[in-house]
Amino acid sequence: MMSAEDNRLVTEIGPNTGCGDLMRRYWQPAALTEELGGERPVVRVRLLGEDLVLFRNDDGTYGLIGRNCPHRGADLCFGRLEDGGLRCPFHGWLFDTNGQCREQPAEPPSSNFSRKINHTAYPCIERNGIVFAYMGPGNPPPLPAFDCFEAPDAFTFAFKGFVDCNWLQLNEVGIDPAHASFLHRFFDDEPEEEGYGQQFRFSTEENEMAITKVLREYDCPEIDIEQTETGIRIYALRQMNDEEMHVRITNQIFPNAIIIPISNEIMLTQWHVPIDDTTSWWYAIFSCFT
Ligand code: FES
Ligand SMILES: [Fe+2]
Repeated sequence: MMSAEDNRLVTEIGPNTGCGDLMRRYWQPAALTEELGGERPVVRVRLLGEDLVLFRNDDGTYGLIGRNCPHRGADLCFGRLEDGGLRCPFHGWLFDTNGQCREQPAEPPSSNFSRKINHTAYPCIERNGIVFAYMGPGNPPPLPAFDCFEAPDAFTFAFKGFVDCNWLQLNEVGIDPAHASFLHRFFDDEPEEEGYGQQFRFSTEENEMAITKVLREYDCPEIDIEQTETGIRIYALRQMNDEEMHVRITNQIFPNAIIIPISNEIMLTQWHVPIDDTTSWWYAIFSCFT
């Protein structure tokens, strides 16, 4: 049984917490690209316990800056996108994507005070439907070379869902190999072509049986774990007969991503992203090889 102290250590993710500092050293999903699809691409973001605002400039660059204006605390979600940045609706301070204040209209023309105002800002990168943010120290690392980032945009599909639990509880569901036999089972096996959208309707390359049927009929997998350079790999082994074994692989990429091949053609990459200490976003990208 985990102690309350250890539990806090792995679930408290605000600034200057152990787990929060760790999470900040990795690119984290901040929003779906489609959330910025309207005429005014400005959205509020709560990520790792911080309140932020994400915007996209005319030139396509993204800014993720503190939500409250450093002047009088106005909500920059109501800011105006203009002149190469986000302008506070209260007194018109203009912030660029680096959080640098560029203009303070009410200051005398001779003032250079704006140069001293550098608001909280985090680098962003958009890839295949998700805008990622780096909230850690120093220069951001490159994005990991996951299939979902290498695949052309047209071969990927990104989505997110709100989950009312902390990131670790959500991650535990992601890597839990036994639940698939019950939660993801179908009682009728339709032909692959007719089951569009149904998870696990495909069969594997070397066996005709749809994966949903494999999961349904072999509901007591043997579980093996191997340590890897980037986390752990979990094998759920379902012995189907003397000759065949179904192997479901879950790659946990520390700290909070997992990658699961769910058929011959489809790879599922997921991130379990802390909104704060007790709620999370589940982000995912499906990548299809055909
Ligand atoms: S509160 Fe933002 S400019 Fe004054
Ligand atoms: Fe599941």
